[in-house]
Amino acid sequence: MNSLDIPCSRKGSIEEILEEFEPEMENLIPILHRIQDSHKFHYIPQEVITDVAQYLNSTPSEVYGIISFYTMFSVEPRGKYVIRVCESAPCQVLGSSTVLSALEQILGIRVGETTEDHLFTLEESSCLGVCERAPAMMINEKVYGELTVEKIMEIIGGLK
Ligand code: FES
Repeated sequence: MNSLDIPCSRKGSIEEILEEFEPEMENLIPILHRIQDSHKFHYIPQEVITDVAQYLNSTPSEVYGIISFYTMFSVEPRGKYVIRVCESAPCQVLGSSTVLSALEQILGIRVGETTEDHLFTLEESSCLGVCERAPAMMINEKVYGELTVEKIMEIIGGLK
């Protein structure tokens, strides 16, 4: 295992993160979450995939397969705030495309892109579990519902 330090907002290297978990495959998802959440650009660097695979007695391709299966994981650097707009049916009916357009306009980026200042990444998501508050979006771990253009401007303004 190499001694790569993840430049993260919380202190700790990849070894320290791995040591928090038993070396069992069932811990892969929590480990990946922990690595991604610890990185200041909210992603899983390619370099650590081998470390994770070795620790779990697995292979880099198996770990990479899991990462690419789940849209919540990224191997590309993302912004400090990852905005995920719900695109499932109830939110679509109640205006998720308006939410997305407003965010694209306010941030000056398209879905899948990150602002130049690395502050925001815009993504689509499936149901966020708050359909009764559609249309909804999630920014990092926080969910926002009953969105209007005014509300979105206020939320983004508060994060800048
Ligand atoms: Fe959007 Fe469930 S459909 S939160």
